[in-house]
Amino acid sequence: MNGFEEKFADALDDVPDEHDDRDRFVGGHGSFDADVMLVGEAPGADEVAQGEPFVGQAGKQLDRILDDLNVDREDLYITNLVKIRPPENRDPYRDEIDAWWPVLDAEIDRVDPDVIVPLGSFAAQEIVDTDETITDLRGETVELDGRVVRPTFHPAAALYDRDKLPTITEDLRQALIESEG
Ligand code: URA
Repeated sequence: MNGFEEKFADALDDVPDEHDDRDRFVGGHGSFDADVMLVGEAPGADEVAQGEPFVGQAGKQLDRILDDLNVDREDLYITNLVKIRPPENRDPYRDEIDAWWPVLDAEIDRVDPDVIVPLGSFAAQEIVDTDETITDLRGETVELDGRVVRPTFHPAAALYDRDKLPTITEDLRQALIESEG
């Protein structure tokens, strides 16, 4: 652990017990002073095994994109909407998202990033508070409490559709530029 459980002890205490399974738990990782925060959906088996978000196939795709942009993942803050792995990698349920939302909210408060990049529909729809799909949301920015929110596709989507790779790369490049502004 990287101090996540201490830093967010209050918010974690409020997660209802039925949604708080520490055997499937992965907290946020990276710099607590980051200007850019990436928010995925939920950890998978590799993430639980290594205790870090985005270290499996999708994470390797993300790392290739970050390498292209000359960005060290440790300089970002990377987390997930839901902090426990959904069984069989199913989509997170509404009650799981609601249970974990206050923890993400506490992370946003603490890290205080200039730019938040939701990765994929689940994180984008919750953070932007909309039903629009990621296809509609990407390429747009939304202002949220003085921050820029720039949704993009989930890196896993680029594993199946290579055309999404340059789009995600470009969106992250824009996010980095916006964080310097
Ligand atoms: N997919 C996510 O959304 N998050 C991870 O941490 C890994 C895969």
